[in-house]
Parts: sequence; C-alpha cells; structure tokens
Amino acid sequence: DTGAHVPALVIGTGYGGSVAALRLAQAGVDVHMIEMGMAWDTPGPDGKIFCNTLSPDQRSYWLRTRTKAPLNYFLGFPIDRDIPKYTGILDAEEMGGIIVYQGRGVGGGSLVNGGMAVTPKRENFGAVLPSVNADEMYNVYYPRANAGLGVGLVDPDWFNTVDCYQFARVGRKHAQRSNFPFVFVPDVYDWDYMKQEAAGTATKSALDGEILYGNNHGKKSLQKTYLAAAKATGKVSISPLHKVTTVTPTTGGGYTVVIEQLNTTGDTIATKTVTADRVFFAAGSVGTSKLLVKLKATGALPNLNNEIGKGWGDNGNVMCGRANHLWDPTGKLQATIPCGGIDNWAAGGAFAEVAPLPTGIETYASFYLSITKNPNRAEFSWNAATGKAELNWQTAWKQPAIDMAKTIFDKINSKEGTIYRSDLFGTNKIWGDHLTYHPLGGAVLNKATDNYGRLHGHPGLYVIDGALIPGNTSVNPFVTITALAERNIEKIIATDL
Ligand code: FDA
Repeated sequence: DTGAHVPALVIGTGYGGSVAALRLAQAGVDVHMIEMGMAWDTPGPDGKIFCNTLSPDQRSYWLRTRTKAPLNYFLGFPIDRDIPKYTGILDAEEMGGIIVYQGRGVGGGSLVNGGMAVTPKRENFGAVLPSVNADEMYNVYYPRANAGLGVGLVDPDWFNTVDCYQFARVGRKHAQRSNFPFVFVPDVYDWDYMKQEAAGTATKSALDGEILYGNNHGKKSLQKTYLAAAKATGKVSISPLHKVTTVTPTTGGGYTVVIEQLNTTGDTIATKTVTADRVFFAAGSVGTSKLLVKLKATGALPNLNNEIGKGWGDNGNVMCGRANHLWDPTGKLQATIPCGGIDNWAAGGAFAEVAPLPTGIETYASFYLSITKNPNRAEFSWNAATGKAELNWQTAWKQPAIDMAKTIFDKINSKEGTIYRSDLFGTNKIWGDHLTYHPLGGAVLNKATDNYGRLHGHPGLYVIDGALIPGNTSVNPFVTITALAERNIEKIIATDL
C-alpha cells in the first residue's frame, strides 16, 4: 500500500525475479514482488485455470481483442479469432519489426513456455557470457538452477514407442539420415505425469494441446518450484496486477517506486507509492529495458550509463515447417512438450528444436523452432513524443537466421525429396521470421551493470533477468537466466547486505 517501506522490491516474477526472491528471503530479507500480470491461481467457469491452445478465450492474450497466434495460418487459412480484452497470459508485443512473445502473470515466461531446459554446451559459453567464469557456472550455478527448476529428461525407451512422440521420431530419423546429431532436450515437464496422461490414468494436459496459454497439470512452472519455495519462507509477498512505472532515488538513501494497480481490462484503478532499500529489475528483457531507458531519459535515474537499452537480440529465433511424404505421418496426437533437437551449431550456427503441431489431425508436417547465431543486435530508445520505449529491430535482420536454419533443412529436404511448408505463416510464406520467444539483452552484464548485475550509477539497483544476457544463449534461454541469477544473487547477498 501507499507509504509502505520494503527492504527489497522485485519487479517481475519470472526466472530472475523468483531466484532473487527465494535467495533474499532465505538470507532473512523481507521481499515484495510486483507483477503486472494476474496470479493464475483461480479456475475459470470451465473449472480450469488456463485455456487450451486450440480454443483460446479471453485468458489467452494480454489486452488484445483478437488472438495473435505465432503460427497464424493453417492450411493457408488465418486462424486468429476475436476475444474479449483481458489481462490474459501471453503478450504478443509488437516492437516495430518484431513481435516479442512473453508470459504475463505470476511465474512470467514459465507460464507459457515449452519448459525446454537446456544448458548450453560448455564450448559455447564463452560467447554467451564472456565476462563470467565458466568453471563456476558449470560446477555450481547450472547444477543449482537445474535442481531448483526440477529439470528432467524423457525416458528414451518410452519415447521410442509412444504415439505422442511420433512427430519427434520422424524429426530424429530425418536429422540422422542427413548426418545431423539429434539430441534429447531436458524439460521441466513432469515426465511421469506425461506417462500417466498417455496411459489414460491422469487428466490430460501436454497430451491435450495445453501449452501456449498455460498448462493445467504436468508442467513445473515457477509457481511450483522457485516461487513455491519463496512463499514457504514466509518472507515473500506478491502483488499481481500491479505495474511498476517509476523508480527514483529518495533523499537519504533508497528508492521511491510508483506502481499502478490494474483491473482485468487493463485500466489503472489506483496509483501507489512505496519506498525500498533495494530494487531488483526482473521484468524480463523487454520489460526491464523499457523501464530503464525511460527512467534514464526522463531523468528519474540520471546516472545510468549509455549502455542502457543496448545489446538486444532475438536468440536467432526462426520457425519453419517441412512437408513430409505420406509414408512419414507425424501423428494426430502430439505432446505439446518438445523433447529433441538437431544440433548444427558448430558447422551452421543453428540448433533446431523438433516442435509439435498439436492440431488434433494428421498434417504430415514437421515443424521446427531454430535458435541461430544471428549476429544482429537492436537497441531500445525513448520516444519523448509518444511517451514510449521503441526497439529498432528490422524484420530483414532475420535473414542470417534463415540462412543458418537452411543449413539444416535444405539438406534434409534434399535428402528426403521433400519441400518446405508455405501455409503456416501466411500464404506462400516459408519462414516464421516475424517473431521471437527468446528476447535477451538491453541491460547487458558488465556493460550497463557491473559483473554481478549492479546498475552503474545507482547503488542498490540491480538487473537480474534476461536483460543481462547479450542477445543469444545458443540454446533455449531460461536455464542460463536462472543460473546467472543464482550466481549474481549469491554475490549480492554476500557483499551488499
Ligand atoms: P520473464 O519474462 O519470465 O518475467 C518477467 C515478468 O515481469 C513477467 O511476468 C512480466 O509480466 C513482469 N513485468 C514486466 N514489466 C513489468 C512491470 N513494469 N511491472 C511489474 N511486472 C512487470 N525458454 C526456454 O528456455 N525454454 C523454452 O522451452 C521456452 N519456450 C518459450 C515459449 C514461449 C511461447 C515463450 C513466450 C517463451 C519461451 N521461452 C523458453 C523463453 C523464456 O520463457 C524466457 O526467456 C524467460 O521467461 C525470461 O525470464 P526473465 O526472468 O528474464 O523474464
């Protein structure tokens, strides 16, 4: 409430924020978390907390009146539909030349993502976070993050026989026939639960198309892991539907934080002002970057340096589909949780996850989300006229990502005698080059902050989320975001408190 004072205020409840809250609380610090999205702890009229990917309702999108599905066409027909405006779970944020998908709610991206929990290969780490000691990360913080997140691997024997991974076995076969390594990818989904779904002994979730708009059962989102542990300390409280708009130094130390309370149609219903000794920016790469460029440009945090807003990348994301022959069906039933990838990082700069197309019908399509070494980086800036932060990414900057993904799929198509699908992202459009699921950067470690996330110029302010990572992790990012947050908060607790 207005006038309150907290020792530590955390902006956002995704990976970085959840790690910070848990470890601070364990060190005896009272933490208050501010989250602009909903709590996602109460079932709707259908008895479910989250809606299904195949029948999106108001719970699906953040303040949109029409859905904005990443795969927006099916068999050449647009599939988006009208929905009531509501503080839904998935934000399809249009930032100039790119749509940045992000989770909104207590748990951040963990509410909507595929749960693929990948530690980068050791030999690639130096390019991911050049100023960080790799030994420490691989000996201490990656293992700590994997344990905290509940990461596990699909049982390979079960994978080899079960209907719902037919699509992934076809992906493996095609990869291997073209001499690409196919690797199993760990996930935070409860694999025993998925086995029960397949056996018909548990309520279906991954096997019922649930993913993009939340998962009602088997996925171990942050609500079930870090945030549950944080709440259990009794020292962490969370305010959902509250959005931080300003952070500014208070005379005599600490910070004044202005917070807008939202209703479920996105209107501001109250404005609150609190003070905090320390503020942790964990609003995600885009959320943190937007806040910081605004606070610097408007003079609220005048001492931030010129690295603020820079070094933003899309993790090289690009999507495509391939049309298989009739003897290579990918299956009517597809688990929404991917569990395998094609590794051509060293030779071609691409790591492609074999992704499901859980439509409920046979499509004979193989679908892939590639993470590539796209070198392009964009920058956030403050537009005083519109009062908004802008990102200068251009759609054409995806071309290197497409070229890298083609090092895998051109070869597979040529070997298999197959072609790309051109009906998934429009009519006659092969590449899904309009979006990213993996925004990274904007307040880069050791540039906008010191080597542990302390913002330069304002003691007591920290960045602890994906904004720290300079644009690419070579694999799916949340394990690295979590491990880096574990590393940084340990140092901050030891030396700053
Ligand atoms: P994160 O975005 O998780 O959390 C930030 C939180 O801050 C959000 O809850 C937001 O609402 C809140 N916030 C923002 N501004 C605020 C403000 N001003 N005031 C208050 N709150 C504010 N990664 C991976 O490793 N494996 C995978 O399988 C996938 N799959 C995937 C699928 C889809 C559809 C998406 C959208 C994303 C993924 N990801 C993924 C990416 C992954 O989810 C992402 O990298 C992390 O969630 C980022 O973690 P952060 O802690 O940086 O922020």
